[in-house]
Amino acid sequence: MAVVSMQSSAPGRGTEPSVIATSRDAVTGLLARAAQSWAGVPSGPLGWVCARWVMPRWHAPIYTAMGAAAGLLPDDELLEVACGSGIFLAEHASHVGYVAGLDLSDIQVGLARQRMADRLAAGTAEVVLGDVAALPWPDDRFSVVTCMGSFEAFPDPAAALAEIYRVLRPGGRAVLNIGEQAAPATQTHQMLDVYWVWAEHDVRAMVEAAGFTDVDISYVDYSGDTRLSKLMSGPDLRLVHAVKPTAPTVP
Ligand SMILES: C[S@@+](CC[C@H](N)C(=O)[O-])C[C@H]1O[C@@H](n2cnc3c(N)ncnc32)[C@H](O)[C@@H]1O
Repeated sequence: MAVVSMQSSAPGRGTEPSVIATSRDAVTGLLARAAQSWAGVPSGPLGWVCARWVMPRWHAPIYTAMGAAAGLLPDDELLEVACGSGIFLAEHASHVGYVAGLDLSDIQVGLARQRMADRLAAGTAEVVLGDVAALPWPDDRFSVVTCMGSFEAFPDPAAALAEIYRVLRPGGRAVLNIGEQAAPATQTHQMLDVYWVWAEHDVRAMVEAAGFTDVDISYVDYSGDTRLSKLMSGPDLRLVHAVKPTAPTVP
C-alpha cells in the first residue's frame, strides 16, 4: 500500500520555519488526540456525550445504509466490530438469531449493554470490551461480520482484517464500511496521524491480502435527513463486501 504522511509546510515571514512547523504539528497533534478521545475511542465526559448523543444522530444514515447492504438473515450469527453504543445491532439486526458486539471503549460497551439488555438476558447476544486486532472468539465462529464508521481510525487495519477473516466461517461474509469515496488522484495516507484516507485500489489490495475473495466495492450516499448528518457527512460511504473462501486461497 502506498502510504503518504501529511506534513506541515509553508513557514511564515520572519519566524524560524522549524518553530512554526513544530507549533503547527503540536496543535494538530492535540486536535487529533482530542478528536480521538471524543469520537475515535470515546472516553471521559466529552466522550460520553459524543457516544450517547452525537454519534447516534451523526451515524444514523450509516446504520441504514449498512442495514440495506448487509442482507442479514434470521439464521445468521453476526459480529459487529467497533459496535459503538449498539444501535446497529439493536435496530438493524433484531431479526438475526445471534449477535455479538465488540468495542474498545468501556463507555460504548456500557451503552450497548443497556440498549441490548433484553437480548443479553435472553442469551441471544453478547457485548464485549476488546480490541478488533485480538478478537476473543475462536476461528470460524460467525457467518457475517460488519463494521461501520470506524475502520478509518484503526491504527492497524490489516490486523483488524486478519482477525475478521479468522473468526468468519468458510463461506461467511464481511460487510465493511472502509472510509469514504476518494478523489481519483488520492494516495493512501493518514490525516493528522490518526485517520486513514484510502485509495480504492489499496482497500481492495488490503482486503484481498487478508485472504478474502469476491471483493466488491461500492459507494452509497449517506447524507441522511438530520441536520447533523447532512452537516457531517462527506463523500459517499465506501462499502466493501467480501467472502471468506471455503478453501484457503493459494497466494
Ligand atoms: C466513530 S465510533 C463508531 C461506532 C459505531 N460503529 C457507530 O457507527 O455508531 C468508532 C468506534 O470504534 C471503536 N474502536 C476504535 N478502535 C477500536 C479497536 N482497536 N477495537 C475495537 N473498537 C475500536 C471506538 O471505541 C468507537 O466506539
